[in-house]
Amino acid sequence: MTSLIEKRTIGRSDMAVGAIGLGCMGLSAFYGEPTDKTTAIRLLHEAAERGVDHFDTAEMYGPHTNETLLGKAFADRRDKVKIATKFGIRVVAKPDQPGGLDGSPENCRSAVEGSLKRLQTDHIDLYYLHRLDPDTPVEETVGAMAELVTEGKVGAIGLSEVLGDTLKRAAAVHPIAAVQSEYSIFTRGIEQTLFPALKELGTSLVAYSPLGRGMLAGAFQRGKEPGDKDWRAVTVPRFSKENIDANRALADEVIGIAARKGVTPSQIALSWVLTQGEHIVAIPGTTKLANLKANLGAYEVSLSEDDRAALAPLADRVAGNRYSDMGMAIIDV
Ligand code: ATR
Repeated sequence: MTSLIEKRTIGRSDMAVGAIGLGCMGLSAFYGEPTDKTTAIRLLHEAAERGVDHFDTAEMYGPHTNETLLGKAFADRRDKVKIATKFGIRVVAKPDQPGGLDGSPENCRSAVEGSLKRLQTDHIDLYYLHRLDPDTPVEETVGAMAELVTEGKVGAIGLSEVLGDTLKRAAAVHPIAAVQSEYSIFTRGIEQTLFPALKELGTSLVAYSPLGRGMLAGAFQRGKEPGDKDWRAVTVPRFSKENIDANRALADEVIGIAARKGVTPSQIALSWVLTQGEHIVAIPGTTKLANLKANLGAYEVSLSEDDRAALAPLADRVAGNRYSDMGMAIIDV
């Protein structure tokens, strides 16, 4: 049942994964009610059977429940998949509310033990600092993460939402296999602020929200609103009442190209991301098997020069920030 899969190497590590992985966050947190466990585990198993081998989670998704879910799903097939997780955002009792940043070596050492336990594994393939901690120099955090590599608890190190200068400082301590950042037809700022450093260091980009949190897949066209409990409706400016219609109009352009080619909008969005560079892998999120299948179909879609030209100006026209002011404040700028 394995689909056509293109493998890409993560940084200069020996880890090669399918260019299309799975972002698992939405199964447990942020995007409305969590998917029930049986359905979620079935989706994770189906994904692995179809050749998806890169599953992305984090300590703070849930918090904890997303890692626990992956642990349950993959304990009996751990060697078939690569698991990436993240630490550095303090977990508080209330779900979906970050409790501040902590990239201290102490937190790194204790967080990894919790993640290993929940993931039911003795190693994490790719371990990220989730957000830069302004009170801990990145060199100190990466120093602690490097010890986990030496101990065999972590395969490769990543950072999330950092820019080129931070990446270079970190890479002076230990090779950074990947930076995970938002990247899509709608979100392209890092082409200037991060891509040159990625190239210089041979670091991969793991592109999250490659579907614009669903907008580029046509999931939020007129009449389709994120539900009341959905974090996008509550805090993401691009989904606010003021901005959503302008962004829907931009998504219509993607949908139009998809219709002309007889493919899905999500395939256009993913094909675009993957053809922006060989150093990129994408981790679209989905809770549905039909959408997972559609997304894997992106391997077979190619974009013409005309398609690219039509998509190129959209990012500059997107209305609203990709995070609330609080979310923007914890991103490396
Ligand atoms: P994130 O990385 O934050 O998960 P994303 O990958 O850009 O964001 O988009 C995820 C969203 O796109 C989810 O809301 C997902 O909804 P489902 O769980 O209902 O699938 C939606 N999505 C993913 N693939 C899709 C597809 N092929 N068609 C429509 N919506 C899709």
